Amino acid sequence: MSDRKKIQKIFEYTGIIGRSATDGTIKTCRFIRQDKIKTANGMEYVFRIPLGVPSKKIEMLNNDVGIFKDGLHKDVETEFKSGMLHVFVYEDQLPTKWLYTKLIPQLKPGTWKIPVGMTYKGLVWHDFDKIPHTVMGGTTRYGKTIGLKSIMTSLVLSNPDDVEFYIIDLKRKLEFGKYEKLEQVREVAGTPEEALKMLNGLKDRYDKVMDYFHDNDLSNIVETDIKKRIFVIVDEANRLVPKTRNDKIQLACQTILEDISSVSGGLGVRLIFCTQYPVGTTLPRDIKQNSDAKMSFRLQTGKASEVVLGDGNTHAAHLKDIPGRCVAVHGPNLLEMQVPLISDRVMKHLLQNWYRTKRKDVTDWRDESEGENIIEFIPSGGSK
Ligand SMILES: Nc1ncnc2c1ncn2[C@@H]1O[C@H](COP(=O)(O)OP(=O)(O)O)[C@@H](O)[C@H]1O
Ligand SMILES: [Mg+2]
Repeated sequence: MSDRKKIQKIFEYTGIIGRSATDGTIKTCRFIRQDKIKTANGMEYVFRIPLGVPSKKIEMLNNDVGIFKDGLHKDVETEFKSGMLHVFVYEDQLPTKWLYTKLIPQLKPGTWKIPVGMTYKGLVWHDFDKIPHTVMGGTTRYGKTIGLKSIMTSLVLSNPDDVEFYIIDLKRKLEFGKYEKLEQVREVAGTPEEALKMLNGLKDRYDKVMDYFHDNDLSNIVETDIKKRIFVIVDEANRLVPKTRNDKIQLACQTILEDISSVSGGLGVRLIFCTQYPVGTTLPRDIKQNSDAKMSFRLQTGKASEVVLGDGNTHAAHLKDIPGRCVAVHGPNLLEMQVPLISDRVMKHLLQNWYRTKRKDVTDWRDESEGENIIEFIPSGGSK
C-alpha cells in the first residue's frame, strides 16, 4: 500500500471521518496533492479537512503523530495551514548531533527571533517578541541545560546591547555561574534564598516600568521603540517547588514567577521555565497557561509529557533515546527537532567579547534607591 493510502486509512481508523448531519454523506480528509519535500528526502501530502470536523479530532492527530509513524514505519510530521493538513513523511532520520557553530551564520542580529532546533525541513525559529514565555521539560541528561545555553548564546549574539539575563540555577550555579561575568548577565541565583532576593529586585524593577507604561498609555513593549528585553531563566525549577505551606521562600519565588508570566510579558520580560519532573506541582498552572511555547525532551511517562505539552500530548514519552531530541509545540503545530549542541568551551569563546574584566559594583546594576535601572529600559524621551 502506498504511503498516501496508508495515511487515508489512518484517518479512517482514528475517526477523522464523520457523517454529515444534513445529507448523511461520509466526510473524510480529501487528498489534494503530493509533492517532494524540497529541503529533505521525503514526501509532503496535503489533505483538505472536511468542514465541521471537531477541532478536538484534529488535535488528537496532532498530539499523537505516533499513529502515523507506527503505521508508516517512517518519521512523520504534521502541520495545519488554512484548513489543510500537511503530512510530511521522511525517508531519513533527523541528525543525532547538530553543532551550534553551524547555525551562527543564520542568526538575525537585531531581532528576537532565534533558531532553537532543526527539523527535516530546516530551522525552527522562536520569536520571543511574539511568544514571550516558554516552558521546557525533560528527564535529566537529555539536554535541557544545553538547550538553555544555546538559546542564551543566540540571544547575546543577536542583541548584545539589549538583552539581559536573570538566571536561577538551583544546582548552586554549577551550570551558569561561569557566565556571571558576562555583561548581559545581571545575576545568577544558586539557592532559593538568592532566587527570592533576585526576583524581588526584578519585581521592583518591572513595577516601575509598569508605572511608566501606565503613565504613557503604553500596553506592549513591542509597540514601542524600547529595545531592552529581560530574560528570566529558571533551570531545575523542580528545586524551587514548595513542598509544604511552610516553605515560605519557595512559595514567594513561585508567586513572583507566576506574576512574571502573567503580567510582565508586555513589559519586555520573558520567562524560560525549565523542569525535570513535570507534575502539576512543579509546573505551576499559571506559568504553563501563559507559556505559549512548550518544549520537551524525552520524558518517562505519557502523563509527564501531557503536563508539559498539554492534555492528550504524550509525544515526549515516545521520543527516541537521543540527547538533544525535543518536541516543540508552537501554536497548533507540533515539531520534533534536534536542539543545537554547544559546549561551555565554545560558548565562552563566542561570548568572550562581553566578559567584564572585573565584576562591576552592584549599584551599577541595580540601583534600588533612585530607580536608575529604568533608564536602561526606557529610551530617553520615552516614546510609543
Ligand atoms: N543538543 C544536544 N545534542 C547532542 N547531545 C546533547 C545535546 N544536549 C545535551 N546533550 C548530551 O547530553 C548531556 C546532558 O545534557 P544537559 O543539557 O546537561 O541535560 P539536562 O540539563 O537535561 O540534565 C550533555 O552533556 C551532552 O552529552
Ligand atoms: Mg540540567
